[in-house]
Amino acid sequence: MNAYEKQIRRALRRKKAAPCIPENSYFLSRVAKAASAAIEKNISARAFTAPPPHIPGDFMLVLTPEGASHAAQALSGEVPFIARGEAQGAFLNLFLNRDAVYGEVLTEVLEQGNRYGTTAGDGTPVIVEYSSPNIAKPLGVNNLRSTLIGESVARLHEYTGRAVLRDNYLGDWGQQFGKLLCAYELWGDRRKIRKNPVPELKELYVEFEKRAAEDPSLEEKARALAQRLETGDRHLTALWKKFRTLSIRDFKKMYGRFGISFDAYGGEHFFVEEGKRAAEACLAKNVCTRGEGGAVVAEFPELPGFILMRSDGATLYHARDLAQLAFRTQELKVRDIRYIVGGEQTLYFRQLFELAKRIGFMAGSEALHVGFGLVLAEGKRMSTRRGTSVEVAELLERATEKAREVIAAKSPDVSPREREAIAEAVGIGAIVYNDLHQSRERDISFDWEKMLNVEGGSAVYLQYTHARILSLLAKVGGAQSAKPIFKEGEEYFLARELAIFPFVVSRAAEHDAPHMVAGYLERVAGLFNTFYGKVNVSGTADPALRASRLTLSKAAGQVLKNGLWLLNVPLPQRL
Ligand code: ARG
Repeated sequence: MNAYEKQIRRALRRKKAAPCIPENSYFLSRVAKAASAAIEKNISARAFTAPPPHIPGDFMLVLTPEGASHAAQALSGEVPFIARGEAQGAFLNLFLNRDAVYGEVLTEVLEQGNRYGTTAGDGTPVIVEYSSPNIAKPLGVNNLRSTLIGESVARLHEYTGRAVLRDNYLGDWGQQFGKLLCAYELWGDRRKIRKNPVPELKELYVEFEKRAAEDPSLEEKARALAQRLETGDRHLTALWKKFRTLSIRDFKKMYGRFGISFDAYGGEHFFVEEGKRAAEACLAKNVCTRGEGGAVVAEFPELPGFILMRSDGATLYHARDLAQLAFRTQELKVRDIRYIVGGEQTLYFRQLFELAKRIGFMAGSEALHVGFGLVLAEGKRMSTRRGTSVEVAELLERATEKAREVIAAKSPDVSPREREAIAEAVGIGAIVYNDLHQSRERDISFDWEKMLNVEGGSAVYLQYTHARILSLLAKVGGAQSAKPIFKEGEEYFLARELAIFPFVVSRAAEHDAPHMVAGYLERVAGLFNTFYGKVNVSGTADPALRASRLTLSKAAGQVLKNGLWLLNVPLPQRL
């Protein structure tokens, strides 16, 4: 058993779905059930949407015109939790017994704490493959996007009751390693590499390309080395392995700053032999053919053809991925695999999945390409050639630098040490949130002003709102009321938003869409800030009402915390 297999099997054995709340035990589900019984039609709490401000009522449901008027009538009788319904065309405006319902919701949020918003799933395993950088190169911005989206997707699935395996598929095989080995043998400095592995290895690679432009014999040397590596040359394999180990060590440092760790480090090289066998199997089953010169070729209607194995027996990207997929579905028997990879590989994955289906590796399994947009600089795709690409380390540096400025302005009275910790959280949060707050298919760029805007649309806005709640609770004390009282519209609006959190999360998980959580959190923060601006919580004279408002604030803080955890945005206790 190779190292990858050991890691992933162990993870599969150990991982259990985290304890989650059954969706239908949430209070809002009970309300939906009562409504369903009254109107004799099944509606789930997922369908409850908050109406626009000019429409009265707590929730709006889309039915048919007859359905809506029938429902309005049915709901005017004695129905638990529900005051009445009003039909408006095909819409049903639902009026709840607010104090009772929202009171229960707040109790629920505070009782369930960090688990509020989870929904129990079937506990089946899902492999989320993400990050997947190429070794001996710095983590690219694309791989960073994959890392951030992948981590959030993994958390969303954990939150909805799945056993999640975090799998990193390194680009650690191919012709380019011939070049690197060649450069290393000619100009490599072991000490420098040990000290600063990835940047030095990258330098070597760049050096090779530069010199090879003038000296074509270098390309030949590199090819010969690649060939020797492919056939298992001892010395070269040991060197390559060292590059791999050192690269992982560097990657882990970066992951550590984002609080991310993987269950398994796989990689293309683990699937070279199986890739060959998979290509042979495709031939034997007539799914593929021998092309000119003997290469193994796949040609399917409506898709461009592609090569699995060259005539010299070397596998290509598709073949190794096919073998990896077969291992996951056939050996591990994991039925759900999600590849978090840039949108430019959409065609590639269509080809891969079609091939896998035809050869029979997909029966009963689902593989999904979860794509995402580009990283832009100056409106164009980042490019090393144009000098517009940035490295992740530099990006982090810039983010914390800018975060320091924001903090200096916002909270000048914290100690230097605490300030540094806050800057790290705000800087990391800015990068993470910039990636996740809009639909992942869209391109992103780095607009620091927006990314660090304390007024909204940013992580720091959410972090700030959360910290504000903590400081309010610390100042006034954690009085909690058993029976909340709602006086102002703003209080209802906030409580209503908190009630739908579990349903927002399950929808986001279903679509692998962290931005649904982000948009939701901005609404919660906005509603909290409006409420907070309107009523003077700490100065509320009536003790019962004050306690009620503190309870509401505390619940909002809890939901912000849970939601930000799902996005992997760090939460400083103070800001
Ligand atoms: N290593 C590739 C890159 O950096 C991504 C790998 C994506 N995953 C896969 N199973 N092909 O572009």
